[in-house]
Amino acid sequence: GKGKGADKGLIGFTSIPLNGGPYPTIAPEYALAAILPWREKIDGSGESYPYNLTSEQQEKAIGLGHDGMWLFNDEVLCLNLEYGTNYHMFGRNDVRSLEEVRTVQAAHGVAVVALQRTGDTFKMKRDRRNRRIHVNTPVEFSGPAAGSDLLVTKIDNHNPKGTVNNCSMGHTPWGTYLTCEENFDQYFGSKDKSWTASDEQKRMSISGPNEGAGYGWFDYDDRFDLAKNENEDNRFGWVVEIDPQNPNAKPIKRTALGRFKHEGATVVEGIAKRIVVYSGDDERNEYIYKFVSAQNWRAMMARGKHPLDEGTLYVAEFKADGTGVWNELSPKNPKLADKTMDWILVNTRAAADIAGATKMDRPEWITVGQNQEVFCTLTNNTNPVGHPDRPANLANNADGHIVRWKDSRSHVGTSFEWDFFAIAKEVHDKDGQMFGSPDGIWADMKGRVFVETDGTQPGKNNDQLLVADQKTAEFKRLMTGVRGGEVTGITTADNQRVMLANIQHPGNGDPAVTDFPSAMLKDGQTVPRDATLVIVRKDKGIIGS
Ligand code: FEO
Ligand code: CA
Ligand code: CA
Ligand code: CA
Repeated sequence: GKGKGADKGLIGFTSIPLNGGPYPTIAPEYALAAILPWREKIDGSGESYPYNLTSEQQEKAIGLGHDGMWLFNDEVLCLNLEYGTNYHMFGRNDVRSLEEVRTVQAAHGVAVVALQRTGDTFKMKRDRRNRRIHVNTPVEFSGPAAGSDLLVTKIDNHNPKGTVNNCSMGHTPWGTYLTCEENFDQYFGSKDKSWTASDEQKRMSISGPNEGAGYGWFDYDDRFDLAKNENEDNRFGWVVEIDPQNPNAKPIKRTALGRFKHEGATVVEGIAKRIVVYSGDDERNEYIYKFVSAQNWRAMMARGKHPLDEGTLYVAEFKADGTGVWNELSPKNPKLADKTMDWILVNTRAAADIAGATKMDRPEWITVGQNQEVFCTLTNNTNPVGHPDRPANLANNADGHIVRWKDSRSHVGTSFEWDFFAIAKEVHDKDGQMFGSPDGIWADMKGRVFVETDGTQPGKNNDQLLVADQKTAEFKRLMTGVRGGEVTGITTADNQRVMLANIQHPGNGDPAVTDFPSAMLKDGQTVPRDATLVIVRKDKGIIGS
């Protein structure tokens, strides 16, 4: 507080300059190592498959798109592999066979791998829990919409498969991982040029026969052709629970948390140990949601109920006076009385439109810090209309901001108070702290807020990892990333004496931009590979100090 002065030990490292180079840089008190590059075999041998690997090999190797992750018990890492472009995989933008589609499909998804500490870094262990989960892995649905006809398809009938575009994440007090499906619309379309999207599909950004990102899956795999396989798109956009300890456990899609472009699923215990899950929907002018379990999660589990299957889903409405309300998304809300619960959960954006919600500047990660303060990164939005028409947002917001709120009843209430924690273009004015497009965020409960960026940085420099003081919102730059790549994912080990962070799409896959991380691994590879960075303080101190 005031008069006590800043806690110099809290964020004591030397803030470093912006950087635009082909390799990461880190504060002088710290050291960096790289692990888990694309194509490393998950058998723990330490070997990698060559570039131009087969789909069968890719199914047994680390994929592309390292993003959200969590390390359980300092040992088992769940790592999201959000996406890899065809260009990154093959050096060209198109796919030319079902085998190539299968290879790209296997590169996306999640990796579960056991790690072993070796000095200042880790190596992958040979371990029965090591596995790859991808878009062809059998999964199941649970919760109120699980039996809905909206989730039945012609090709796989009642046997759903896969998860894809796994962006950020959450982890539960019962030791499971939540992986979140974000831009799944990019894989769907149709070879039939006369196919038209429904209003519900358009609301999820599936607008017609041509897909968003050019993956070309439906050219070879009918499962992704919506004219041939109705409802397959409804099977994506969920929060998916993975048991990191049991390699035979199917991933479970928890329908009670709603379907949208889930960035993450941040879990916190509310009053009476009710489970609360915060989740942003990352698209321009989309919403922030929270789910509250029906009861104490331990009591529910003791009675054979799953806390993520029974509860209430809400959407956030921010008011100009610094307050806000959580509007219920169920037929109990009079505005949604004529809708069924499964329609609401499958078409959550459309339900939220009806219930009333504030359009946001692209909600990305959410974290809970000291004093039960919740932080959400709003990465950017070129929409000219901001506050006061869209409270908690900004007009012409090219650089993004971080909004903070506090719930009226320890996360289970129906109202909250909010303010701006940091506005990137104002931080730009203060030397050495500039950043744009905040994305990853994690508060360490000791007063530090770690922020990762994904987008344009001042001077066209690389994405970065910053540390802010939760009380003063002063930033220091801990690390800069790789040209053409994003800094994402955050988890710690050894009581925060080690931090893991990811470099995603280094050089956007172009070997002329960077060969990251070959110079760190000394393995002579030329095509850049997504990889995980291991961050330590040379004096073995707490990361962020
Ligand atoms: Fe996959 Fe919104 O970032
Ligand atoms: Ca993100
Ligand atoms: Ca982003
Ligand atoms: Ca990304």
